[in-house]
Amino acid sequence: METLKAILTRRSVREYTPQAVPDEFVQELLAAAMQAPSAGNQQSWHFILATERRQLDALADVLPFGKALKAAPLGIAVCADLERAKYRDFWAQDCSAATQNLLLAAHARGLGAVWLGVYPLEERVAGVKQALELPAQVVPLCIVALGYPAARPDPPARRYDETRLHLNHW
Ligand SMILES: Cc1cc2nc3c(=O)[nH]c(=O)nc-3n(C[C@H](O)[C@H](O)[C@H](O)COP(=O)(O)O)c2cc1C
Repeated sequence: METLKAILTRRSVREYTPQAVPDEFVQELLAAAMQAPSAGNQQSWHFILATERRQLDALADVLPFGKALKAAPLGIAVCADLERAKYRDFWAQDCSAATQNLLLAAHARGLGAVWLGVYPLEERVAGVKQALELPAQVVPLCIVALGYPAARPDPPARRYDETRLHLNHW
């Protein structure tokens, strides 16, 4: 899919068929995620692939708006290892850029995905860390629920808004 078309037609998908996401697609999505820009090119991201039903349900249980994981065949936790990040203050921005690349690549491959917010809400961070048994220095930014869409959402309404533009001054 052409890049701009992918950006302009992506929607969050929260319902999936039980079909597993093929490994080659998962590799492609992760390659797209890791191609994102990052502060000083530190690439502070790590990705935890959750494929076991028990794990996906445990994640859904700690995320108040994470019901999508109950049906998703795959969840990808986008995390940072704070001990290894050189420019620590920027890890969330690095991981956000990687997450958006992942969502767009999923859409381009006909998959459906949704970004489930975790950081900076302490309760969600603690819940995800426990569900995935993460070491102390690893922080989850979000979980991306993924699968083949059970239904295709309508294309997004156009969000371009001139009132958000400020030429030279506020
Ligand atoms: C930081 C962030 C956190 C989000 N958290 C959730 C969430 O917890 N649960 C959910 O279903 N969607 C979540 N979303 C998806 C948004 O609800 C969705 O992107 C927004 O409604 C716009 O719809 P669209 O993605 O279809 O364009 C999140 C998105 C972002 C960027």
